[in-house]
Amino acid sequence: MTITIAGIAGSLRRGSFNRMLLYAAAQLLPPDAELEVFDLLDRVPPFNEDWEADPAPLAVARLRALIADADGLLIATPEYNGSIPGQLKNALDWASRPYGAGALQDKPVAVISASPSPRGAAGAAADLRRILTNTGASVVGSGLAVPGAFGQFRRDGQLADPDLVRQLRTVTGDLIQAVGGSRAAA
Ligand code: FNR
Repeated sequence: MTITIAGIAGSLRRGSFNRMLLYAAAQLLPPDAELEVFDLLDRVPPFNEDWEADPAPLAVARLRALIADADGLLIATPEYNGSIPGQLKNALDWASRPYGAGALQDKPVAVISASPSPRGAAGAAADLRRILTNTGASVVGSGLAVPGAFGQFRRDGQLADPDLVRQLRTVTGDLIQAVGGSRAAA
C-alpha cells in the first residue's frame, strides 16, 4: 500500500526556495511513498471561528482532507521577521480545529526550512515545531534548515550539497519510520 505524505510550502512566491526544498524531499522518498502538495495556500481565508466546522471554506476543506487522509505531513517554512509566515500559521489554525478533532491531531509531521540567511530560517522552524506541538501533532526528528538558499539548488531543483541531501534523506526517513510506527499502532 502506498504511503501518502501531505506537503505544505509556507511561501506563496513563484520561485520559492521552500517549495523547491519540498520537491527535493519528494525525490528522496522511498518508491512506495508519494508526496501530495497542498497548492491552495493563497485561497485559505483568514481563520474565523464562526466557520470552523461546517461549512468550512472550500480550500480549508481540501486542506483538512489532504492532511487527514495522509499518513504524515512535511512542511517547508520560510522565515518572516523571525517566525513563520502568517499564511502558514493561518492554515494550521484552520487544520487544528474543531478542537479535539482537528486533522493535525496525532499526525506525524516533519519540518524543513530554507532562507538566504546563514541560519536557514531555523527560528521559524523552531516556532513551527512549537505551534505543531500545540495543535496535537507529533513532531518527528530534528528537521533540516538550509542556509544560503541562493547557492544551494541546482537547475533541476535538487540540492547541490551531498551533505544536505544526506540530511534531507534523514528527515524523510524519520518521517516514513514514524508513519510506519503509527500505522502499526493503529
Ligand atoms: C524575510 N526574510 C527573512 N529571512 C530570514 O532568514 N529571517 C527573517 O526574519 C526574514 N524576514 C523576512 C520578512 C519578510 C516580510 C520577507 C518577505 C522576507 C527573507 C526570506 O528568507 C526570503 O525572502 C526567502 O526567500 C523566503 O522563502 P521562499 O519564498 O524563498 O520560500
